[in-house]
Amino acid sequence: MNINLYPIISDQISKPALGVVLSELERALDNKTPGAVVELGCYIGTTSLFIRRVLNERKEDRPFHVYDSFEGLPPKSTQDSSAAGVDFKAGELAVSKKQFLEQFRRAHLEPPIAHKGWFNDLTATDLPDKIAFAFLDGDFYESILTSLQLVWPRLDDNGIITIDDYRRETLPGVERAILDFFQGKSYKLSYAHNIAVISKVL
Ligand SMILES: C[S@@+](CC[C@H](N)C(=O)[O-])C[C@H]1O[C@@H](n2cnc3c(N)ncnc32)[C@H](O)[C@@H]1O
Repeated sequence: MNINLYPIISDQISKPALGVVLSELERALDNKTPGAVVELGCYIGTTSLFIRRVLNERKEDRPFHVYDSFEGLPPKSTQDSSAAGVDFKAGELAVSKKQFLEQFRRAHLEPPIAHKGWFNDLTATDLPDKIAFAFLDGDFYESILTSLQLVWPRLDDNGIITIDDYRRETLPGVERAILDFFQGKSYKLSYAHNIAVISKVL
């Protein structure tokens, strides 16, 4: 999709990073990968709006779920401390579910199914049984680790996970969570513009 046609409504993703996420989504759709689309850490909907536009362009009516505390970020763990400085604190990035849904109303787009809560309180029934594509954008170690624990077992064999802030010096918990989660598991990882792209080894 041509991302230049629409505004990027927050500074939470760069245009090149958004381009990587959307082209991976398009690859999953091109491959007719079965399953839902999920975003864990949707904030105000910067990326969610574009995901919806891609689904609409492709006339895809597959389920699209987003998840957020809608109360901002949780506390950091020791895994998130970085000599490079501090990006984000607990409670930052708080927007309400109403504000998130308002973005879709303004853009005349159908909203995704929006789940309010902390990732570690989500239960099996909150997630689709099968996932074709996931975008994980929880910033911190525990948030990414929990997101992977929820998504990986449900990922279709040809599914794709994209994760923001990979190898960003100020958010080291993201890479640490990926390394800890995948220790002893087979997986493929590449990255561009701080987006990790992860899939299964078949
Ligand atoms: C960087 S923002 C996401 C940006 C969003 N993807 C966009 O494109 O606008 C991170 C979001 O993750 C949410 N978040 C982080 N950790 C969370 C957790 N453990 N449980 C629920 N929400 C969490 C925060 O509330 C915040 O809205």
